[in-house]
Amino acid sequence: MKKFFSVADVDNLKEIVSEALSLKAAPHGNSELGKHRMLGLVFLNPSLRTRLSTQKAAINLGMDVMVMNMDKDGWALETRDGVVMNGTTVEHIREAAAVMGEYCDILGLRSFPTLKDKEADYSEDLFNKFIKFCGVPVISLESATRHPLQSLTDLITITEHKQKDKPKVVLAWAPHVKALPQAVPNSFSEWMCRAQEEGLVDFTIAQPAGYELSEEFSKGAHITTNLDEALADADFVYVKNWSSFKEYGEVYPVAENWLLDNEKLKLTNDAKVMHCLPVRRDLELSSEILDGPNSLVIKEASNRVWAAQVVLKRMLEELKG
Ligand code: CP
Repeated sequence: MKKFFSVADVDNLKEIVSEALSLKAAPHGNSELGKHRMLGLVFLNPSLRTRLSTQKAAINLGMDVMVMNMDKDGWALETRDGVVMNGTTVEHIREAAAVMGEYCDILGLRSFPTLKDKEADYSEDLFNKFIKFCGVPVISLESATRHPLQSLTDLITITEHKQKDKPKVVLAWAPHVKALPQAVPNSFSEWMCRAQEEGLVDFTIAQPAGYELSEEFSKGAHITTNLDEALADADFVYVKNWSSFKEYGEVYPVAENWLLDNEKLKLTNDAKVMHCLPVRRDLELSSEILDGPNSLVIKEASNRVWAAQVVLKRMLEELKG
């Protein structure tokens, strides 16, 4: 595996989930594989889970890790070509990525979208340039349009907790006070649509009108604007807010109640409830669910280690040749 950016970088979903669960059962079984290998984690935005779980995964494999908080400690990056850098940017991504590639065997990058310019964000220009110029395998720690380590984690978590071969999985939009990226729901949808194709889940997206995700990510999903209808017989409900894709980055007022609580949960098949975290309690998801028996959010966050570890393991094996 040379890059881990989307579901397209994985040949077989069942196999990667099974390998991740084997690592969970024996975390230190490959502790020689990463010896004398350096992982660099580059953050242009905040993180708790991605930062810590990826470091833990690397340490389990015997790797050393360096973390660069580029947004706070790095030089202001220029990504455009052909510009005279006489403004606020100090270092071009061509040099910055190439230098980090000299220090590291594998790099991870987190870079959120602007939510102002749809074309620029969805072109993944920064991420693609980082991959091009660093010259080593790259893991997405969340890009403008996707969060693949989170989505692999989510598939691992669903596989662990499912009670039937093909559970009904619902991605449910939730309220928020801020405009949030579409990366997590895009990615979850992309992975669930592929899992549906492979017969692993039955996938539905519920969102208010105006909050439809790009078809690039949702093609194949059952899509509804009626939350109650989507929740009927659901085995897993994945709660997440996102801003509008169509009116890019906009947040519309929504009249109906989209906050998942125990009353709404009664419509489901005693569904397990998931969220990538961080979550705003009683705005995005009710406390009674987060603190109740149906919540998987902590187990889900815990599984971030195995998603990162299986991806790093595959990259290290390829480097070993
Ligand atoms: N879910 C997730 O990626 O969490 P962080 O933003 O804290 O890394």
